Amino acid sequence: MSSLRVLVTGGAGFIGSSLCEALIAKGHTVVALDSLFRGSEENLASITDHERFAFCQGDVRDIDALDACVESLGGVDLIYHLAAVNGTKWFHEAAHSVIDVNINGTLRTLELAMANDAKYVFASSPEAFGEAQSQPITDGDAMVFTDPKLHQRHSYGGSKYLGEIACQHAARDGLNVQIVRPFNAYGPRLCGDDYGQVIGMFFQQMLESNSLTIHGNGSQTRSFTYIEDVVEGFVEAGLRNLATGGVFNIGSTEEISVLELAKKIAHYGNQTELNFSEGYHGDVARRVPNIDNSRASLDWQSTTKLDEGLALMWQTLSI
Ligand SMILES: NC(=O)c1ccc[n+]([C@@H]2O[C@H](COP(=O)([O-])OP(=O)(O)OC[C@H]3O[C@@H](n4cnc5c(N)ncnc54)[C@H](O)[C@@H]3O)[C@@H](O)[C@H]2O)c1
Repeated sequence: MSSLRVLVTGGAGFIGSSLCEALIAKGHTVVALDSLFRGSEENLASITDHERFAFCQGDVRDIDALDACVESLGGVDLIYHLAAVNGTKWFHEAAHSVIDVNINGTLRTLELAMANDAKYVFASSPEAFGEAQSQPITDGDAMVFTDPKLHQRHSYGGSKYLGEIACQHAARDGLNVQIVRPFNAYGPRLCGDDYGQVIGMFFQQMLESNSLTIHGNGSQTRSFTYIEDVVEGFVEAGLRNLATGGVFNIGSTEEISVLELAKKIAHYGNQTELNFSEGYHGDVARRVPNIDNSRASLDWQSTTKLDEGLALMWQTLSI
C-alpha cells in the first residue's frame, strides 16, 4: 500500500497516541492534533522525532488549526477523528463542554474530510446506544436515552449518537466514512485519575496504596479490550477498502463484573481492601459487543485475554 497522509485528532490521547505509532510503523505520514486537554506529548515520545510525524497543539473545533494540519501534510488522504472529552466524571460535571467539543469537533472534521475528499474514521462509543435495552450490543438495536432531568451522563453518549448520524449523512452524500466503537479500551497510558477509566483508576489507587473504589455494587459487567487490539481495529477500518457507512464494534467478548475486575487488579499489589461508593447515574448493568461485522469485514477479533492484558499493563506501571 502506498504511503498515506493521515490526520489523527486526539492524537496525544490514550488510543490516539498508540494509533499514531501504529500508522508510522506501517509507513504512513501522520500529523496528530490535540488540545492536550487530557492527552500529553509524553504519550508520543517514541515518535516525536520521526521524520514522518508531526504534532500540532490546537482545538479540533478550530478550522484554522485543522487547515494548518492539512497544509503541513501537503493534503490529507485519511482522517481519524478521536478528539473528544472523554471520562465519566466529565459527562456529569461538564456536559456543556462534552456536547460542544464532541459534536462540533465531529462536524468540523467531517467538513474537512469532504473538502479534501479524504476517507474518514469516527471514534464512536457503545454509549451511543444510551441505556441499551438488550445485549450483546448489535447494529440495528434501539439507541435509548432517558430524561435529561435525571442526569447528564448522556451528554457523551448523545454526542456520539449525533456523531454517528452526521457520519451516516456524510456517507449518503458520498464521503467514505467508517465508524468504530471501542469497548472499554485499556493498557499503558490509560488515564487513572478521578476523571479516568476504571482499570486505570484501580491500578493508580493500588500504586498509591489506597483501597480500590468501586462505583455501585460492582455487579455491572463490561468487556475490556486491550489497546493493541483496539488500535488494530482502527487501522483495519481506515486502511481496508470498505463500502462507506461501515460500523464496527471493537470489543473483547470476555465479560467480567467490575467487582471481579477489582479483585484481579488488587491481587497485583496484595491490596485486600475494596471500597464501595455511589454508582454513576445512567451506568448500564451490562455492556458486551456483538462483533460479527468486525469479524466478517475487518477480519478482526480481540486476541488478548484480560489476564494477559492486565499483566502487560502492570509491567509498564511497575517499572
Ligand atoms: N477509551 C475507550 O475505552 C473508548 C471507548 C469508546 C469510545 N472512545 C472514544 O475514542 C476516542 C479516544 O479515546 P481515549 O480513550 O483515547 O480518550 P483520551 O481522552 O485519552 O483521548 C481524547 C483526546 O482528545 C483530546 N481533546 C479533547 N478535547 C479536545 C479539543 N477540543 N481539541 C483537540 N483535542 C481535544 C484530549 O486531549 C485527548 O488527548 C474518543 O473519541 C473516545 O470518545 C474511547
